[in-house]
Amino acid sequence: MSSKFLFAALGLGFMLASCGNQKSEYDRFYEQDYKDSVSEAVANAPEPAPGTRTPSAPAQQQPAQEVHPGSKLIAGSDCTACHSNQQKLVGPAYVEVAAKYEENDKNREYLIGKILEGGAGVWGQVPMPPHPNLNKDDAGKMVDYILSLNN
Ligand code: HEC
Repeated sequence: MSSKFLFAALGLGFMLASCGNQKSEYDRFYEQDYKDSVSEAVANAPEPAPGTRTPSAPAQQQPAQEVHPGSKLIAGSDCTACHSNQQKLVGPAYVEVAAKYEENDKNREYLIGKILEGGAGVWGQVPMPPHPNLNKDDAGKMVDYILSLNN
């Protein structure tokens, strides 16, 4: 969150707070001043870098009651640092993984092993780190969720 944005938000608050009051020269001067700095801050706000999580990101996920248990586990783990559903980050997008692997026991076992033990060479030379603290059950739920994205 940039300090410019914070400043813009404060400026906006000031403007709103001063609405409805009878305005003095002083108010009008500062209102204009704040208005200028708000539009300037908005115009100059940097585009978020690709993969940056913005406050609106959770809203794009499914409604709370439909969240897949595997999706919750992924959200609570470090996976999100390197993976997203739709976009390649450090690792492949989950939709790409889902497109590559048919949903069957063999692929499930393989992907569980990959999450637990890590490895490289399938999508590039960057390695997927091992996850020794995850259990097989939870890794299985994550795989089920990832493979469910193939539709
Ligand atoms: C530090 C970055 C990083 C983190 C953290 C990470 N991954 Fe990965 N992941 C990768 C990379 C890089 C690959 C591609 C590996 C390869 O080419 O073999 C990958 C590949 C995968 C694949 C496909 C495996 C294959 O062989 O096709 C799955 C599934 C996956 N990750 C799931 C997860 C899950 C679930 C988590 C969290 C528990 C996670 N990843 C955490 C970087 C990461």
